[in-house]
Amino acid sequence: MMIGIPKEIMHGEDRVAATPETCAKYVSAGHTVLVETNAGEGAFFHDGEYRAAGAEIVPGARQVFERAELILKVKEPQFNEALGVHESDLLRGGQTLITFIHPAAPANHGMVRHLAERGVTSLTLDGIPRITRAQGMDALTSMSTCAGYKGVLMGCNLLPRFVPQIFSAVGMIKPISALVVGTGVGGLQALATAKRLGARVFAADIRPAAREQAQSLGAQLVDVEVPEEAGVGEGGYARSLSRELLERERAALAKRLPEMDLVFLSALIPGKLAPVLLTEEMVKTMKPGSVIVDISIDQGGNCALTPPGEIALIHKVHIVGIKNIPGLLPESSTRMFAMNLYNLVDYLMKDGRLRLDRDDEIVRGILTTVDGQVVHAGAREAMGL
Ligand code: NAI
Repeated sequence: MMIGIPKEIMHGEDRVAATPETCAKYVSAGHTVLVETNAGEGAFFHDGEYRAAGAEIVPGARQVFERAELILKVKEPQFNEALGVHESDLLRGGQTLITFIHPAAPANHGMVRHLAERGVTSLTLDGIPRITRAQGMDALTSMSTCAGYKGVLMGCNLLPRFVPQIFSAVGMIKPISALVVGTGVGGLQALATAKRLGARVFAADIRPAAREQAQSLGAQLVDVEVPEEAGVGEGGYARSLSRELLERERAALAKRLPEMDLVFLSALIPGKLAPVLLTEEMVKTMKPGSVIVDISIDQGGNCALTPPGEIALIHKVHIVGIKNIPGLLPESSTRMFAMNLYNLVDYLMKDGRLRLDRDDEIVRGILTTVDGQVVHAGAREAMGL
């Protein structure tokens, strides 16, 4: 199969969908890989390395889209300013696209319909179910790991004080206190990173399993006073809380906020808007110079004041709402992403062709458009189909 790797075109996006290592794997499985020139440059993977891995370097995106049968990308199709054309118009019937599409998001509905109309088969990586046999393909989990790590580093960098305990000739300086709210994939990585940097770590979550994992990483728990039956739903996932329980949780967090230097927010219910857990009044009670990192900003944010895509100083607290944190760690995030993608392609390939068995839970989760139709359940519901 002819596999195409275009350079990502979203502003500031340095990741790429294949590394020289995964190219070599595709080639040894009998595929041909076309890589747009400089596609990996932002993540420090060079054309020469792709060539050495057996890929063909092609001069522009048009050639990649024209020749490849399978296009692998990081971001959903976007408007290509340099070519004056939308990437979805570079795709054609019979081609397959695998990338993060976020097809339920209203901003993407038009693009998803367009892919269907053009007869493109598209698969979205955000639909990979969190089940054991799909772990190696779960790019969302990989990216949350990157966001947890890099988000804490960004937060610590903004702090006007040392993170660990420091012994100096002028006396002992106390370590900072860091609170992680929502200890799922991103939150646990944030916790581990803050702990390694020398912070005293605190954690809050509404699922007992998540709290146990936080505790095993050395965190002290902040009791958010949510009964287990209210916080845990089907399949062990978190559930949306009632207004009253959210109020109770905010009150419990408010009691501890004034002692925190760093607050990392990553509380999320899959497919829902992020719960607002920090209000403006609560931010006002925080120590001057402290930092909030809110990685749930794509779902609206866990803090009412988080500026989407930016960092702002509000009530003497830095609030980080940067959206593409994994993109700030381009080499590691690309390595993880490219391996997840390779594992998925390898899983779907039978005798050199992609076989999309719609009885398979993984395929059902990711299949977005096929045979001229939008088939992704979340997208159909959001589009009213
Ligand atoms: P996850 O589903 O693994 O974890 C979310 C956790 O929040 C769960 O443990 C859940 O129990 C907990 N939670 C839900 N409601 C809560 C509440 N009311 N109070 C306390 N805890 C609550 O999700 P994951 O993969 O860690 O992602 C977290 C967020 O990070 C998502 O919003 C995701 O989109 C975002 N993200 C942001 C990136 C960025 O660059 N800004 C990159 C990657 C992920």
